[in-house]
Amino acid sequence: MILVTGGAGYIGAHTVRALQAAGFTPVIFDNFSTGHRSFVGGTALFEGDICSPSDLQNVFAKYPIEGVLHFAGKALVPESHANPEMYYRTNVTGGMNLLSAMKEFGVRHLIFSSTCATYGVPESVPITEAHPQRPINPYGETKLAFERAMRWFDESYGLQYLSLRYFNAAGADDSGQIGEDHDPETHLIPLALDAAAGRRPDVKIFGTDYPTPDGTCLRDYIHVSDLARAHVTGLRALLDGRVKSQAINLGTGRGYSVREVVECARRVTGREFTVRETLRRSGDPPVLVAAVNRAKELLGWTAVESDLDRIVASAWKWLMIRHRPG
Ligand code: UFG
Repeated sequence: MILVTGGAGYIGAHTVRALQAAGFTPVIFDNFSTGHRSFVGGTALFEGDICSPSDLQNVFAKYPIEGVLHFAGKALVPESHANPEMYYRTNVTGGMNLLSAMKEFGVRHLIFSSTCATYGVPESVPITEAHPQRPINPYGETKLAFERAMRWFDESYGLQYLSLRYFNAAGADDSGQIGEDHDPETHLIPLALDAAAGRRPDVKIFGTDYPTPDGTCLRDYIHVSDLARAHVTGLRALLDGRVKSQAINLGTGRGYSVREVVECARRVTGREFTVRETLRRSGDPPVLVAAVNRAKELLGWTAVESDLDRIVASAWKWLMIRHRPG
């Protein structure tokens, strides 16, 4: 069985479905602090907290686990500035609890949800995995701390890991059952679509004076279903011993500006909404775009569902289903 920490969260839930479709048997480990009970469906569930060593020991004792996908964690940049302690506690201490339990139970294969936020402000784009990692927020810092811990667990105990550094995860699968649903929501695409749906008065553009073609930030948006598939491919490669421990970027290699995303939301929804240009948000690098060669060479993986219109259309469908009248 495959343990999926945070399997009731946004990316975790999509990956659980992809694992099942590929013939794996996942068990979700989640404390529902940000995950959704409705995302679990009929999947095996162990309700627990990575901050509790005994919860982790109990789940490893209960199930014959051969590999772990580690999604559980805190993942909001503004929140990480407001409460770094919580980010260290969950992402670092909780992560260490997981590594200790894996060591104790002899489980050696781990796929970790990492992030382009570990790079900080890029010195060069597209960003390769060898780019220096100098995070500019506690979120990225705590993700990097766990990446480093995995490296030493590999050297000392033979942990086999992949650290998948996501760029901007977005969109929803076709089922209509799972999608992005954060509280508070801070991400651009759901906020723009909320404005299109009339659920918010407007969408704000944070900064129009960046050194980019239209003055707004460029991001590499990757469909969550592409991310989910990368985890399954990565897990297979790891279990078969075809890849060694390392980091792999997951993105498309193409950046879209905030203005382009807002235009796309107008085009896809066919709705007009108010856009307000405001000051920069702190901690936003101007450009985050992935170099994607490593994922292709090592895993044979490329994004195939990440056309921006397709991402936005899938997120719109998810919003419409969730907020259907009656
Ligand atoms: N933005 C706006 N208005 C908004 C929200 C966002 O203009 O209302 C802009 C941001 O300034 C940024 C871009 O849209 O330039 C994308 O912002 P998101 O908040 O959607 O995503 P981020 O780029 O901030 O994502 C970062 C990291 C990810 C990480 C995520 C966690 O790049 O790796 O934070 O929240 F997972």
